[in-house]
Amino acid sequence: MKLIVAITGASGANLALKFIEHLPLDIETFVVLSKSAKIALKHENNVSYKNVLKRENLRIFKDKDIAAPIASGSFKIDKMIILPCSMNTLAKCACGISDSLITRAFTVSLKEKREIILAPRELPLSSIVLENMLKLSRLGITIAPPMLAYYSKQDSLEAMEDFIIGKWFDLLKIEHNLFTRWRNDVQ
Ligand SMILES: Cc1cc2nc3c(=O)[nH]c(=O)nc-3n(C[C@H](O)[C@H](O)[C@H](O)COP(=O)(O)O)c2cc1C
Repeated sequence: MKLIVAITGASGANLALKFIEHLPLDIETFVVLSKSAKIALKHENNVSYKNVLKRENLRIFKDKDIAAPIASGSFKIDKMIILPCSMNTLAKCACGISDSLITRAFTVSLKEKREIILAPRELPLSSIVLENMLKLSRLGITIAPPMLAYYSKQDSLEAMEDFIIGKWFDLLKIEHNLFTRWRNDVQ
């Protein structure tokens, strides 16, 4: 599988780094971080994404590199996830604005009718945001925000994060063992 992972400047950009770390190595992964994503990572986690993103299955592109392979529909890609998706990027996606590699890759994935998942992060949600989400959902895009759940008895922040990452893996049909499924023990 060829997967684009776009990281934008919403809270929890570190979740995207963990998501990438959990990806099986046979998934060819194309990573783009917006300028704001790098700022958010610095403020919230004080981590350098460059130190984390050192895996053989990754290719990292600059958000201003609109000549990157993933900017063209002729370059074969299977799926795309924007994780987390800022309200700014969400609005651009809903309007078809392609002024960066992330938004260009999104519009290309949309026109090529590829599977796209957006993980918007904001609280509360304004009517503008809700309308943007509805518009995108009606276009076939999966809106899957990072939402907590308690039913698989997570006992740490790490387990909570693994649960959310596992849900995104489920949507992308990537096998994982990140959480215990509801009533998995019942025949
Ligand atoms: C630490 C930090 C946390 C942020 N959290 C959010 C957030 O959760 N949701 C959001 O929409 N914007 C958030 N922002 C604001 C966005 O980064 C800002 O709107 C930016 O223009 C988004 O640009 P991008 O869409 O190109 O990444 C945050 C900014 C910082 C610095």
